[in-house]
Amino acid sequence: MKRSEINRILREGREFCRRMGFHLPPFADWTPEDWQQRGHECDEIRDNMLGWDVTDFGLGNFAEKGLLVFTIRNGNARLPQYVKPYAEKLLIVRPHQVTPFHFHYAKMEDIINRGGGDLMMQVYNSTEDYRLADTPVEVHLDGRCSVVPAGTVLRLTPGESITLPTYMYHQFWAEGDTVLGGEVSAVNDDNVDNHFLGKVGRFPEIEEDEPPLHLLCTEYPPAPD
Ligand SMILES: [Fe+2]
Repeated sequence: MKRSEINRILREGREFCRRMGFHLPPFADWTPEDWQQRGHECDEIRDNMLGWDVTDFGLGNFAEKGLLVFTIRNGNARLPQYVKPYAEKLLIVRPHQVTPFHFHYAKMEDIINRGGGDLMMQVYNSTEDYRLADTPVEVHLDGRCSVVPAGTVLRLTPGESITLPTYMYHQFWAEGDTVLGGEVSAVNDDNVDNHFLGKVGRFPEIEEDEPPLHLLCTEYPPAPD
């Protein structure tokens, strides 16, 4: 992705959060220059990959397949100094912008429509060899359990949420308007915990055509010693 495209996505995402009245923590505003001044007191942000995360899943068409994420909080399964067992993310999902089929090996998550348009969520079980299963899917929506056919698309209107257990394939997109999505989950490690059905990338290669507005969660410089 070009840096200019990432900057535009971040600007529009921040404007959408403002419009929705959702306030972000202070590190959402930090510039690359601010990051040069941050020492080890901010290691939790670096180590647990908090902050901005833009992806086009390596497919080069953000409008069709892409997602803007802001990780608000997270623990770390590999570093014992971080004892937090939970994570929270903001997902900004545009109309007809698909986050393609994937499941998580370790992370159970609730995906919440916190406002905007409708969030469309398609679900399948996984076979043992990680293909889409044709078996009925047990879904839990806001404390209500039901069983739906494989591949069902669930419509989550603002306020509604779904619980996604490990190994349940899901893909989602918005309808009507951009969705302010929430994710409340177990500790998240996007480097190893996502299994995508198709060949996609999780973090983008970036072509630097202008200076970054904000650094992404994969770009923080190490603390000065
Ligand atoms: Fe997911």
